[in-house]
This record gives sequence, structure tokens and C-alpha cells, in this order.
Amino acid sequence: MDTSSPARSPEPRRNVSLEEMDRQSVFHPNTNLRQFAHGDLGDPVIVSHAEGIRIGDQKGNRWIDGFAALWCVNVGYGRREIADALHAQAVGMAYYHAHAGHSSEPVIRLTDRVLRMAPPGMSKIFWGLQGSDAHETQVKIAWYCSNVRGKPAKKKIIARQRAYHGLTIMSGSLSGLPHFHRAFDLPLGPVRHTMAPYFYWRDDREMSEADYARHCAAELDRLIEVEGPETVAAFIAEPVMGVGGILPPPEGYWPLVQDVLRKHDVLLIVDEVVTGFGRLGADFASQIYGIQPDMMTISKGLTSGYFPLAGSVIGERVWRVLEQGSGIYGPFAHGFTYAAHPLGAAVAMANLDIIEREGLVANAHAMGAYLNERLRATFAGHDMVGEVRGAGLLACVEFVADKRTRKRFDPALKVGPRLAAACRANGLILRPLPDGDMLGFSPPLIVTHADVDEIVERCRAAVAGEVDKLVREGAWRPPLN
Ligand SMILES: Cc1ncc(COP(=O)(O)O)c(C=O)c1O
Repeated sequence: MDTSSPARSPEPRRNVSLEEMDRQSVFHPNTNLRQFAHGDLGDPVIVSHAEGIRIGDQKGNRWIDGFAALWCVNVGYGRREIADALHAQAVGMAYYHAHAGHSSEPVIRLTDRVLRMAPPGMSKIFWGLQGSDAHETQVKIAWYCSNVRGKPAKKKIIARQRAYHGLTIMSGSLSGLPHFHRAFDLPLGPVRHTMAPYFYWRDDREMSEADYARHCAAELDRLIEVEGPETVAAFIAEPVMGVGGILPPPEGYWPLVQDVLRKHDVLLIVDEVVTGFGRLGADFASQIYGIQPDMMTISKGLTSGYFPLAGSVIGERVWRVLEQGSGIYGPFAHGFTYAAHPLGAAVAMANLDIIEREGLVANAHAMGAYLNERLRATFAGHDMVGEVRGAGLLACVEFVADKRTRKRFDPALKVGPRLAAACRANGLILRPLPDGDMLGFSPPLIVTHADVDEIVERCRAAVAGEVDKLVREGAWRPPLN
């Protein structure tokens, strides 16, 4: 291994552009490191300002952010009220830890507020910083409960293929997308994956949604039986899968899945990191699909990204076991320096005030319906579009090489990333979802009819241009009718 690295001067670099400094110093997540370092991916995009649903960079480029950054800036950018709340808290009491019974007023008020919004039965919140660490906490709680209950073998966690629950070692193991596993020897630990409820790609096209939901639940049941119910602690799932393809559950899925879990005494961890706080047109997706979580994970829309904050919300049934555990193990030996950060709580309170005052949950419901309707009207008949699907203010257009036979594109063509790049060049940020060719939509909850019209039109024009290029390159041919 070559251990030499360029000598660094103790002074900041002069006559070096910010772009070049970034390339030389910043280790970017989810980036092809070699291509980026060599400039093959172009310059880093240095985002310098943001207002409402729009962001801009230092070079004068402007985009509509059709993905709310990473499904999180739900109240939009540039909210002075949140900045003021952050400032006031930072000046008053920026930080003290929450261990051994210490607390702060914003944390207490936020916890009470979120529990009043949450599905019935939720009892306590353990605060962390992001979805990934909140899932580490959830898994440790599930294991702890099994130990307290005298069931030390009951430790396996079942997740789903295509799931996304984060990228730390455990949350990354729970995630079910192979490219997040391959180079890191994941999944590690007692993690199993069952099938994703991906109705479009069902083997038997004759299957109804209700039949498919029964099939998914039966597969889960079978996996638990094969593993042994006495070894399975919990099942974790997003109510609507996000990164894995924006997959709303097939009709009847959630009641059937919960029947299976109850039958086998398996806890349900519901990942509401994306869906919580209004994205689906309700405070939580669990309320839409009749889900009764034992534990629920929240983050993103809780602070709209103005400060990192996540919560592991714990139901009363689990809480009673945890309390019992203190008699056996003493203090609950888990926590982080920045657990229950008062700045995050103050930001979350201001963010929830905005969501409430501006009726953003109802707006997400109405604009979500409008976005999905406009996308269906624009794309459903397109020869390259297999499916347009969505729920609330989440939507996905999935592209295929042959919609009649449901044939995927050769992944080497990178059709999804190309389409997203074309949208970006046309002033619109969307996300190409992995393992397939999909454009994901998750705009801020403040979008208006005019914003939705502009998003759909920019996307339509970009896709039309890129499809022409694919045809010219011989990569795709429209079907002959
Ligand atoms: C559904 C879901 N759960 C968990 C996470 C992980 O959150 P974080 O990236 O904050 O660790 C994400 C991130 O996108 C997510 O989409």
C-alpha cells in the first residue's frame, strides 16, 4: 500500500478553488471516489443558498429540489423561525447531556408532543441523531427485551429485501440492497431478509394485489417457521418502502403481516424515518395503514433537516419489559453523548409549529394526490414507463426496456441516473433509485399546484430529450405497434 500523501501546509490553501479544495479533502458519502478525485464527475456542487423549494450553487445554477434534499426538508428552506429557535436555545443552554436523569425543557416538551401525535400505545422516546443510530438502538432494545424475558435465543431481526434503514453496521445489515453490503461484508449479525412487497415485479402477473399481499405474508410466516419463532425477536419495515423503489404496500398487506408477527410473538419495528410528520398526508403512515408498532423510528421530517435528530419511539408493552430489566441489569447501559440534544429539540418544536400552523399535512395529502395524478397522466402511457406509483407526497416513475414483457434495461446503460442527470440539467433535482431505473419524487410538503406543474413539466421535457438520445444511440427502440 502506498502510504504517502500530498504534503499539507499549515496555512489554508491560496489560489486553489473551493472545488479543488473539496476534491483534495472531503470524503463524500456514496460517491465514486476515484472518478470524483480525477474530476470525471465534474466539479462538486457547492450549494450556497436555498429558499422555499429551490436551491442554488455558487456558479449561479438554480434547481427545484424535488427530493427535499434527502426526503427531509419538509417545511422548505430558509425558515427564519427555525433559525431563531436554534439561536435562542444555543444562547440559553446549548447543550447538556441527558444521561442519568438529566433533561432540558425543549426535550421534555417535544417528547410529550410527539407522543400525543403518535399511534396509540407509544410510551417513551429515546433520542438519537439520525435514522441509522436510532435503528441501532431499536435492535439493542429488542435484544435486551428478549434477555429480560428469559428468551436469550430470540435475537434474529427480519428485514425485507430492498429495505433501507441506514448504513451503520446494524442498520446497514437491515437494509436490503446488495450494493450497500458487498464491499463491507454485510449483513452481519442475526439478520434475515424476506421478500419486498414489490407488486409490479410479481412473478405471476395474474395475481391480484390482495393475493400478492397474502403471498408476502405467507413468505414471512414461512421464514419465521424455518428460522424458528423462538429465535426471531423483531421484524422491521418501512410502511411505504422508500429508497427501495417507493413501494406502497399492496392492499391488505399490513393487517396480514401483523397477524403473522402476533402469532409468533415477534416485535414490530416501524421505520417512519421518511413517512413520519406528514409526508403521506397523515402524521404517521402507521395511522393510514392500521399499523400498531411496538417500536417506531422517526427522524428527517421531525426537524426538516435543520438539525440532526432521531427518535426510537417505544410502545408501552416494550417499555414495561425495559423497566423490569433495570431490576436485573441495573441502569440501561446505552446512550450517546448527543442523545436528546436540546438544540435538536428546539428546532423540532419550531418545525412542528410550522407544519401545524400552515396545515402542511393536509397540503401533503392534496398535493400528493395531484402530483401522482399529473405523473400518471404524463407518463403512464409512455412506451418506456412500466409503472407510475406513489403514496402521499411520494412518487416514482419506473422505466423499463419493454413494458409488454416487463424487461429491465441493461444496468450498464444507467438509464435511471441518466434520466435524473437530464432532469438536473433542466433545473430539477429528482433521485434515481437503486436497483432498477426509477425517478423518485419527494418534494417539500409546501409545494403548490404551480410547483407540481413545473416539476412534472421539467421532468417530462428532460425525459423526452434523454429518450431521444437513447434512441439515437441504439440503446432503446420504441415498440412497433
Ligand atoms: C426509511 C429510512 N430509514 C432510515 C434511514 C437512515 O437515516 P440516516 O441516513 O439519517 O441514518 C433512511 C435514510 O434515508 C431512510 O430513508
